[in-house]
Amino acid sequence: MKIDWKNLGFRYMPVKSNIRYRYREGKWDQGSIYNSDRIELSIASNCLHYGQAAFEGMKAFRCKDGQVRLFRPEENARRMNRTSAHLLGPEIPEELFIDAVRRVVRENIEYVPPYGTGGALYIRPLLIGTTPQIGISSALDYEFIILVVPVGPYYKGGFTPVDAQISMCWDRAAPHGTGHIKVAGNYAASLKPTQEAKDKGCSVALFLDPSTHTYIEEFGTSNFIGVKRDGSYVTPESPSILDSVTNKSLLQLAKDLGMKAERRRIHKDELADFAEVGACGTAVVITPVGRIFMGDQVFTYGDTMGPVLRQLYDHMTGLQCGECPDVHNWMLPLEV
Ligand code: PLP
Ligand code: COI
Repeated sequence: MKIDWKNLGFRYMPVKSNIRYRYREGKWDQGSIYNSDRIELSIASNCLHYGQAAFEGMKAFRCKDGQVRLFRPEENARRMNRTSAHLLGPEIPEELFIDAVRRVVRENIEYVPPYGTGGALYIRPLLIGTTPQIGISSALDYEFIILVVPVGPYYKGGFTPVDAQISMCWDRAAPHGTGHIKVAGNYAASLKPTQEAKDKGCSVALFLDPSTHTYIEEFGTSNFIGVKRDGSYVTPESPSILDSVTNKSLLQLAKDLGMKAERRRIHKDELADFAEVGACGTAVVITPVGRIFMGDQVFTYGDTMGPVLRQLYDHMTGLQCGECPDVHNWMLPLEV
């Protein structure tokens, strides 16, 4: 295995192994490690036709002291259970989830990027309904799979701001739908609007609230952060956006740094009032947004990452790789 750690993007590559648990007759098994990245499913599996599929995204970091640590994995366990509950899937006990993450990361330890490269091991838990059925109902049988892959920046440019286009015709989620949980179908819904944004030279689509198309929601793969001219941090409150672990953590870090930080509805007209805009999430960390296109209007936020987002980024990445004190106890060591 020869990996160019400094030039990792966000791409799939086969690694040594993955872990899989089966749910049968109301119980999870002990889980097994697989070296193949293939799965065998009935062609009538409910996840393939009816989308009973939940996933998560989290990271393991090689820290300055040489230890590998996970960032707030219990938050992902809880969110996966919220998603599963909405899809009428089984509960994954939090201990089972965290143990599964630990087992698969240990198995693939040589794929955790070295300290100082800026990379991380991306961890993708997946829960799928596997019962063969043609009528629509929740499955009886499930697989809980965790795959891992070493990753670098999600967007090629790293700190170079990306442009975003507000999707004027499509929503990623319905009002009172599944926008607040991590259901595979949400991402299917965002493919076309994201392609339309790309066709206009933008990297990402930004969505408005699906009821009134008045308030800012989030990007297809990340939450929205605005920094007002007074340096305060603002992020949307909405029942149809994903409850991002990164955003929740940044809100706390912003407060720790003495900044005003709030979660509230953000009217689209406020786009003109921000000094900095960013997209945040596990995969994108904080990616600066340079311009937002809304119909024939364009809002401009500069061609480098602004100082407030940069300070938060440095704090977050410093904490994740063990350079800043972990005052909130967010980092869970791989080995106990
Ligand atoms: N919003 C959406 C739609 C996402 O897919 C993600 C990524 O998981 C996020 C926000 C960020 O969430 P988190 O910070 O928990 O990764
Ligand atoms: C993440 O940030 O972990 C995500 O799941 C976003 C994405 C790549 C779908």
